[in-house]
This record gives sequence, structure tokens and C-alpha cells, in this order.
Amino acid sequence: MIETLLETRDLSRYFRLAGPWGRGPLLKAVDGVNFSIQAGETLGLVGESGCGKSTLGRLILALLAPTQGRVWFGGEEVTNLPKSRLKQMRRQMQIVFQDPYSSLNPRMMVRQILEEPYVIHRLGTKTERLAWVAELLNEVGLG
Ligand SMILES: Nc1ncnc2c1ncn2[C@@H]1O[C@H](COP(=O)(O)OP(=O)(O)O)[C@@H](O)[C@H]1O
Ligand SMILES: [Mg+2]
Repeated sequence: MIETLLETRDLSRYFRLAGPWGRGPLLKAVDGVNFSIQAGETLGLVGESGCGKSTLGRLILALLAPTQGRVWFGGEEVTNLPKSRLKQMRRQMQIVFQDPYSSLNPRMMVRQILEEPYVIHRLGTKTERLAWVAELLNEVGLG
């Protein structure tokens, strides 16, 4: 059986830009995007800077509300989901941000940064979390 992991329908996000005298032009950052990804499939999205890749990612994770359109993750509609359910869902879907300067807090140790998602999602005890972090560091040769 084919399992659809992620699906978007007519997904759009427009930004109203500020003009010199108030309301400026409407910028269509994402406009009518339709796709579906099956379990085990990988989708690459390629395009020039400013074409809307990050905005699309933020719409999928409901970090940003769409102007129009809908998103389903594991058969469940993500758009208009209650906050508590959305938080549960965020254990399963995440963005890996590419810019280390805005993603990694220089005042935190690597271990703290890696532990933080477990703390936010209330997963494991302190001892378990530190063991998971050690395992992750080992996996990439930083242990
Ligand atoms: N919050 C915002 N307000 C106004 N314009 C935005 C906002 N976020 C993104 N944009 C604009 O939307 C377009 C797409 O941006 P983005 O999704 O970051 O592109 P990419 O990730 O492909 O480089 C750009 O023109 C960007 O300036
Ligand atoms: Mg981007």
C-alpha cells in the first residue's frame, strides 16, 4: 500500500509589501503549490534565492499561515490544527535550518543545543537525554 506522507493543495502565501505611501504591491512568494510525497520518498526543491523555498517549508510546518491552500501530514490536515496537536506533530516534522549563525546559539554548548528539542518535547529523563545526545555525537564522530 502506498502511504502518502505529505500533501499540499493549492498552497499559497502572499506578502503585502510596504510602499512609500502605505500599502505596496502584493508579493506572491508561494503561489498554488501542489505535490505529494510518499513514505520513503525524498523530494528535492531547487530554485534561485528568493523563489519561495523557505516560505514553502515554513507553510508545511505551519510556522506560517497560508493565504490559501491546505497541507496534510500523515493524512491529517496541518492547516487549522489546534496548537497542542501541532506541537505533538512537530516531533515528527522539522526543518534543518541552513544558516548556522541564526540557527546555533553561540552562548550554548553543543550538548545543550542537541538536548533542547528533547526538553521542549518533554522526552526522556535528564539521564536518558544525555545518553541520546552522546549517541548522536558518537554517530558523527564528535563524541
Ligand atoms: N515575512 C515576509 N514579508 C515579506 N516578504 C517576505 C517574507 N518572507 C519572505 N518574503 C519574500 O518572499 C520571497 C521568497 O522568500 P524565501 O521563501 O525566503 O525564498 P528562498 O528560501 O527560496 O530563498 C522573497 O522575495 C522574500 O523577500
Ligand atoms: Mg531560503
